[in-house]
Amino acid sequence: MADLSVKINDIEFKNPVLPAAGPPMRTSEMMLKALKGGAGGIVTKTVSVKVAHDSRPTIRKGVCSGLINAETWSEIPFEKLLCEYRKVKEAGSPLIISIGYSLEEVSKLGRFLEKEIQPDAIEFSTHYTGRSVEPILDVARSLKGSVDIPIWMKVSPNFPDIEKLAEKTSPFVDAFVAINSFGPVLDFDIETAEPLLGSEYGEGWLSGPPILPLALRIVYQISTATDKPVIGVGGITSGVDAIKFFMVGASLIGVCSAVIKNGHSVYGKIAEEINDWLDEHNFQSVNEIRNLYKERLKERKTFSTQPKMNISEEDCTGCTACVNFCVNEALYMEDKLARVNPERCIGCGFCQDSCNFGAMKLK
Ligand SMILES: Cc1cc2nc3c(=O)[nH]c(=O)nc-3n(C[C@H](O)[C@H](O)[C@H](O)COP(=O)(O)O)c2cc1C
Repeated sequence: MADLSVKINDIEFKNPVLPAAGPPMRTSEMMLKALKGGAGGIVTKTVSVKVAHDSRPTIRKGVCSGLINAETWSEIPFEKLLCEYRKVKEAGSPLIISIGYSLEEVSKLGRFLEKEIQPDAIEFSTHYTGRSVEPILDVARSLKGSVDIPIWMKVSPNFPDIEKLAEKTSPFVDAFVAINSFGPVLDFDIETAEPLLGSEYGEGWLSGPPILPLALRIVYQISTATDKPVIGVGGITSGVDAIKFFMVGASLIGVCSAVIKNGHSVYGKIAEEINDWLDEHNFQSVNEIRNLYKERLKERKTFSTQPKMNISEEDCTGCTACVNFCVNEALYMEDKLARVNPERCIGCGFCQDSCNFGAMKLK
């Protein structure tokens, strides 16, 4: 049994799987269900000074197993949420309250919530704070001056220069949460040709598996540009997904869409799968695999000459699939085995992932 506990900003998490701010974290009842389902702590639905008014529908299934949503922040007034937060605080797990959006709103809410609830950290969302560094930096600086508890900054993937944003805001934040949903995007059903969402022209924000590679790249960038912990969020549905985030530098991970689709037991399932993977690979803890990708990158041998595709005669079954999918038309059959024409092979590498029998390797 691996050690799944993680400590960041002096907050102890029994496991690294958290909810990401979203609809499964609206009420104390839901948050307590998340803890029962195995979450290592709680991150609440974002609350602001004014309540949100979202046009329905707000959440639909989108392309490639993703979701598209047109949900903004909480429709429950923050005064009403205080008793909800207190009930969760009593449960004893770490509580992170997500707030937004302007400098005034965030500073006022942060101060108030620190005094009334004393959450373990405050997360502020940058989703509606524009795409330039200055306004976000102003919010971070002002919040830092308003509260003593740790500040987590939720990063939107639309920001043009993530490394610059991370470097500039790093002195004022204690951890980064990356990423929020991506967009705006559009999707609809061609049978009706009508919008899926209640927003102006049906536009929304994409989440779930389609955004996972984007999130991985951004977590890598932030954790390389700063020494602050990163909470990796975006498309995670399994322990294997979570492992990738730790390897690019995440300390914890957050899940939203998978919980919307499959319920609160998802946290425990992912934590168990992380444990199984660590056990199978003889790692004792999550900490041992953090940044492994970056370490391997340093050791990487780049190809100084054109790599050659090598086909293992032992593994090739002669199925001919590779001959059909080689875009450079460099593969052919001879004596019922796949062969490479070195004149045509440019070493693109696609066939090594596409051969079902693992017979192709770039060398
Ligand atoms: C319906 C919905 C509502 C969301 N609401 C919030 C929110 O209130 N605050 C926030 O910071 N992120 C919000 N998010 C973004 C998620 O926290 C998360 O960053 C994003 O969905 C990517 O993670 P996932 O692929 O696991 O869903 C919301 C996402 C969805 C799908």
